[in-house]
Amino acid sequence: MSIIEADGLTKTYSTRSGTVHALAGLDLSVPEGSVKGLLGPNGAGKTTTVKVLNTLIKPDSGTATVDGIDVASDPQGVRRVIGASGQYAAVDENLTGLENLEMVGRLYHLGRRKSRARAKELIEAFDLSAAGNRPVKGFSGGMRRRIDLAGALVNRPRILFLDEPTTGLDPASRLGLWETISDLVKGGTTVLLTTQYLEEADYLADHISVIDSGHVIAEGTADELKAQIGGHRVVVTLVNESDSGVSREILSRHGSGEINVGDGGRKLDVVVDHGPSALQAVLSDLGEAQIALHDAGMQRPTLDDVFLTVTGHRAEDNEDEKEAS
Ligand SMILES: Nc1ncnc2c1ncn2[C@@H]1O[C@H](COP(=O)(O)OP(=O)(O)OP(=O)(O)O)[C@@H](O)[C@H]1O
Ligand SMILES: [Mg+2]
Repeated sequence: MSIIEADGLTKTYSTRSGTVHALAGLDLSVPEGSVKGLLGPNGAGKTTTVKVLNTLIKPDSGTATVDGIDVASDPQGVRRVIGASGQYAAVDENLTGLENLEMVGRLYHLGRRKSRARAKELIEAFDLSAAGNRPVKGFSGGMRRRIDLAGALVNRPRILFLDEPTTGLDPASRLGLWETISDLVKGGTTVLLTTQYLEEADYLADHISVIDSGHVIAEGTADELKAQIGGHRVVVTLVNESDSGVSREILSRHGSGEINVGDGGRKLDVVVDHGPSALQAVLSDLGEAQIALHDAGMQRPTLDDVFLTVTGHRAEDNEDEKEAS
């Protein structure tokens, strides 16, 4: 059996503007020692799923077990085996990094001395020694994320829930955190993480579940998901926009499906069955038509293409919404 299992979870909220089905029959299964990525746009139900599994909220219906323990009948038991960090994590701004971690230890009844020792150990492991004795309110975004993750590890959990662990971090801090998470996984920890970053899911997750409107709409490894939506794309960039029409016609001869046009009509791409031979054919026809090229090549589908195909919009659109709201 999988170490995390959810079957038919539902959760409805009544708000002033109506009823929201945060979870609408969500199923999930995470094998022990693996990383599952929950990918989905804003409001998809990612945080709600994590909150049900880490026993912060109860579902309206459906069942879930963590390490074989039922979240509804034994929430205490679940909390003993998990660590959680993320959007809802409570860090006391006025306490230092060290004090915050000590406090978590006390919450787990580690005792004063053990709590302090564990806090020190984590401060060092997370490269926070210089900041350990400063109040968290002066921490940078990256330091906050690290203290948050460290807090989730105080009780040496075998199962870790990470809700958008790197949102808002700069690329270097993000990579650092990815490495930390990878190390934990090498040590045998099972991780369920939510993210809006496709590269993050691609880098960290063994399996990905794409969530929209409270249920899973696609799942598999990153490669499987990419394979589901077809083979390569052939991409060409023209020197002259005036060649766009003819080029479009040539691409449609060798491709299948819609032709994407960008960059003011100069960049065109199309999905093809066999990348190398389609690219050769396209180049040969473009050459015959004496069309000058800036660039030409083929691309494998990205997780972003998967996202677009299954949700109907690009992942970056959500980022824009998030910034706007
Ligand atoms: N306490 C609540 N009261 C009312 N509605 C809620 C509550 N919690 C969540 N919702 C709604 O449930 C839906 C799912 O929310 P959830 O936070 O799980 O989404 P999410 O996928 O984590 O989104 P994000 O990427 O923005 O974090 C949203 O429409 C949200 O507005
Ligand atoms: Mg969320």
